[in-house]
Amino acid sequence: MLTKKIEKTLNDQITLEVYSSSLYLAMGSWFETQRLLNSAQFFYRHSTSEREHMMKLIAYVNREGGHARVPELAAPPASYKSLEAALEMALENEKKVTKAIGAIVELCLATKDYGTFTFLQWYVAEQQEEEGYFQAIVDKIKMIGIKDSRGLFFADKAIGKLLETAPSKA
Ligand SMILES: [Fe+2]
Ligand SMILES: [Fe+2]
Repeated sequence: MLTKKIEKTLNDQITLEVYSSSLYLAMGSWFETQRLLNSAQFFYRHSTSEREHMMKLIAYVNREGGHARVPELAAPPASYKSLEAALEMALENEKKVTKAIGAIVELCLATKDYGTFTFLQWYVAEQQEEEGYFQAIVDKIKMIGIKDSRGLFFADKAIGKLLETAPSKA
């Protein structure tokens, strides 16, 4: 049985996951309009995995006697300054999510909710992986150094390569 406090923080986490899913969906759509099709696929795929994170939380909250809520959300930006800017924004979003998970883990320990603590270990590992993944992409794109449409073409190609090598992850 979840305490009201833990139930609320898990619901807040659902909000973050839904927002992440919608942010990456918006990014994917914008990339598609820019004809950066690999980047679009990358973000569409990542949007789906954020939705899975949300579904896992909903199932857990309801199973443990709480009530998972679907939040009302502000729309994510429709367009982005550049490919780099969107990737940096995605990385910042992942960092924010990692912090939020850390805060719930701390609350679980402080309130001796070891069940939720254990449940959250999957998210701790997932965030570590995702943050590292996004950081690696940002670093790679910086290395390519996009100065013109040719650079953009190669950056999109590099993101496509990442999709091939990590099909389950994006
Ligand atoms: Fe997530
Ligand atoms: Fe994520």
